[in-house]
Amino acid sequence: MALLLALLIVCHTLFTTHLCSATDTITHNTTLRDGDTIVSNGGTFALGFFSPGNSRKRYIGIWYNKVSEQTVVWVANRANPINSSSSGLLRIDSRPNLVIFDGNQTNPVWSNNVSIPITERTNPSSLFYKLLDSGNLVLVDENRGNRGSPVSSPVFLWQSFDYPTHTMLPGMKIGVNLKSGLNWTLTSWKSPDDPSIGDYSTWVDRSGPPEFFLRRGSRLIWRTGVWNSQQGWSGIPTLESESVLNYSFVNNPDEVSFSYIVYNTSIFSRFYLDDLGKIQRSVWRESGRRWDRFWEAPGDRCDNFGECGAFASCNPNDPWICSCLPGFEPKSPKDWNNLDRSQGCVRKRVCDNGDGFLRLLKIKIPDASNARVNMSMSIKDCEGECRKNCSCTGYANGGRNGDGIGLISCLMWFGDLVDIREYMDGGQEFFLRVDAVELGYVQTKRHPKPLFNLPVSDTNEEASANFELPSLELDTVMVATENFSPANKLGTGFGSVYKGKLPDGREVAVKRLSKNSGQGMTEFKNEVTVIAKLQHRNLVQIVGCCVEKEEKILIYEYMPNKSLDFLLFEYALDGLFSIKSDVFSFGVLLLEIISGKKNSGYYREDPSMNLIKQAWELWREGRALELVDPSMGSSYPIKEVMKFIQVGILCVQENAKDRPTMSTVILMLECEMTIPNPKQPAFVFISRTNSPRTSTAGTGSHSVSEMSTTIIEGR
Ligand SMILES: *[C@@H]1O[C@H](CO)[C@@H](O)[C@H](O)[C@H]1NC(C)=O
Ligand SMILES: *[C@@H]1O[C@H](CO)[C@@H](O)[C@H](O)[C@H]1NC(C)=O
Ligand SMILES: *[C@@H]1O[C@H](CO)[C@@H](O)[C@H](O)[C@H]1NC(C)=O
Ligand SMILES: *[C@@H]1O[C@H](CO)[C@@H](O)[C@H](O)[C@H]1NC(C)=O
Ligand SMILES: *[C@@H]1O[C@H](CO)[C@@H](O)[C@H](O)[C@H]1NC(C)=O
Ligand SMILES: *[C@@H]1O[C@H](CO)[C@@H](O)[C@H](O)[C@H]1NC(C)=O
Ligand SMILES: *[C@@H]1O[C@H](CO)[C@@H](O)[C@H](O)[C@H]1NC(C)=O
Ligand SMILES: *[C@@H]1O[C@H](CO)[C@@H](O)[C@H](O)[C@H]1NC(C)=O
Ligand SMILES: *[C@@H]1O[C@H](CO)[C@@H](O)[C@H](O)[C@H]1NC(C)=O
Ligand SMILES: *[C@@H]1O[C@H](CO)[C@@H](O)[C@H](O)[C@H]1NC(C)=O
Repeated sequence: MALLLALLIVCHTLFTTHLCSATDTITHNTTLRDGDTIVSNGGTFALGFFSPGNSRKRYIGIWYNKVSEQTVVWVANRANPINSSSSGLLRIDSRPNLVIFDGNQTNPVWSNNVSIPITERTNPSSLFYKLLDSGNLVLVDENRGNRGSPVSSPVFLWQSFDYPTHTMLPGMKIGVNLKSGLNWTLTSWKSPDDPSIGDYSTWVDRSGPPEFFLRRGSRLIWRTGVWNSQQGWSGIPTLESESVLNYSFVNNPDEVSFSYIVYNTSIFSRFYLDDLGKIQRSVWRESGRRWDRFWEAPGDRCDNFGECGAFASCNPNDPWICSCLPGFEPKSPKDWNNLDRSQGCVRKRVCDNGDGFLRLLKIKIPDASNARVNMSMSIKDCEGECRKNCSCTGYANGGRNGDGIGLISCLMWFGDLVDIREYMDGGQEFFLRVDAVELGYVQTKRHPKPLFNLPVSDTNEEASANFELPSLELDTVMVATENFSPANKLGTGFGSVYKGKLPDGREVAVKRLSKNSGQGMTEFKNEVTVIAKLQHRNLVQIVGCCVEKEEKILIYEYMPNKSLDFLLFEYALDGLFSIKSDVFSFGVLLLEIISGKKNSGYYREDPSMNLIKQAWELWREGRALELVDPSMGSSYPIKEVMKFIQVGILCVQENAKDRPTMSTVILMLECEMTIPNPKQPAFVFISRTNSPRTSTAGTGSHSVSEMSTTIIEGR
């Protein structure tokens, strides 16, 4: 007892002008020295000097008093530290500002610059700062009688919650108040050792329906998406109000803000923006003595703002991540295939009055900064309004509006649609303007997968004459073949051939020339040029090449059956290629002249049929003359024409070795000689006019089509 009394006396005499024991207030006669703390009434938070991380500099901060791991939630002098651990002190001046001094200097290193009207500070002793159990440091006026009032109702003359640093506590707001000019933003620390303002901050965009952004400097990194009272943030499907938390969003002419409360105040829950630009939500687990992270953003790659460019959709489960929206194609197919998605996608067909709307589900609806809101429009009217104007690229149901008046709001987008992503669960619905053709595909369910990224290859011979072989990057080829996975290997020769899948969904065969193929760069380039020039629509298409580092790679269209391996190994590998493929082309030409039909457009009803197959079947059945162009009537020399057909089929035999050389062909046509019976031709044809959509190759999952299972309607 005596000891206690002695302590009390010592205490009293030594510290007449500063704190002896923990209190929750800072009054006009308080001096808080380094080492002293004030503690909130319930003991949840403490305020005092601290040093972050490995730094030795001193800052005034607020931290969890009951959490063993020092967790600072607010910093006063973030950019103005005290250098020495003995000299810092905190006082209030007559205004009454909170001021931090370094030793007994007369100029404070930091002040909170409150501006209380002079009439309200006549009695300085009635004004004091109090640290609440919510972690809020507030300036209260005793005479106003709100001492100790809960965070929800009081009028504080100043509060630290109005000046967030990197942490958002329950009861704190993020957003703006246009009336007071308060700007509630989270700003990252520079590093764990330095609480001064770092690269990252939150920002609310109010040009359309409000959205919160995370920025690095002025660059947009991530956005929450728009708020829908039923579903919460479009971009945070997992962030639902639960039994533990309640989120709230305010959107009125004076204020746009987001906040949350935790029903059980014994649970310590915080959002915080770390110095690397991640917003995390974590909860303290006393049992494990650690913070459990429940959520963080940006999460996966598709959270990155505008990852896929305009009119594209991001799906983290797709190996290529990005795909153009239905009815759109890459603006620059070359860049797109090289994984540069910055140019995004463009409409395949111009807008006309056949346009309709496709319902995309489970998505993060596009950046709404160029969207318009109408709070009193039904979703039906919304569609009608959007349909009227070709600049309107889509619309969405805004849900009940933020103030809960009960009206359904309509959001309409004008111009580019940016930053759409897909979710397995959650997300919102969006109605995309698409042309009638695209709607038709979906409606007739002939849209097994969109393949909407395919750069549509040239559809005529003229274009193919100017064919320029695209060069693909090694990275693209690596992803396509899963790093040349043995599982994708189709065969070997001078090099290995792998099956692969391009970003646009096309299946390809990738021929990787072995380093000891003896082929030098010049030879390789020659070969590529020859192949490119020999592009014939009846030959397997070469898609591109890749020359990077040690690698020399040719990329062909993938043919499901063995004919491809055939083509790739008996032509490109032994000098037969140019000679025999010319013969092949000649044979097709011959058959085309006889039939009067283009191979590509011949059997529209049955794409699996083609001229060569037809010629072969008629020949085998002894009905070869049925191939002849009907407009010839019967005015042609039967024997000659039979010979032409026979030679034509000989030229397109499956095995190149069986094909005659060009000089033999001339002999056969010019002279009387015995012509051998043809063997089965190679049915390896891919018509260049095939729309990507009718291609049957590929098993990739393109979930945009999966999500667009419901159609609104064409007109
Ligand atoms: C702390 O030290 C830095 C550099 O040594 C100096 O610029 C700064 O003014 C000092 N701060 C105070 C409060 O003395
Ligand atoms: C500041 O304090 C130091 C010792 O703590 C003292 O020597 C010095 O005179 C003081 N300066 C002023 C201006 O009070
Ligand atoms: C207070 O005002 C001073 C002088 O204008 C300024 O340098 C300082 O940054 C302000 N402090 C805060 C916390 O805004
Ligand atoms: C602080 O000032 C109040 C009156 O304003 C007084 O009652 C109290 O005793 C003072 N405390 C100290 C430690 O001087
Ligand atoms: C709020 O602060 C941010 C970051 O400093 C700034 O970009 C934004 O314009 C401010 N907003 C208002 C309404 O002052
Ligand atoms: C959540 O908060 C809002 C107001 O912010 C309130 O209207 C709503 O009833 C609350 N929800 C629950 C489940 O308490
Ligand atoms: C609040 O949370 C604490 C700590 O988890 C728990 O012990 C307590 O039972 C909870 N109270 C209620 C009312 O759920
Ligand atoms: C919203 O839609 C209603 C009904 O179509 C219309 O009368 C009103 O002018 C629209 N408001 C705005 C701001 O466009
Ligand atoms: C369509 O919308 C655009 C963008 O808002 C506007 O500039 C244009 O005048 C509108 N056109 C019509 C016909 O209303
Ligand atoms: C490939 O071969 C299989 C079986 O051999 C056949 O069913 C399929 O139709 C062929 N595909 C093509 C495109 O010829």
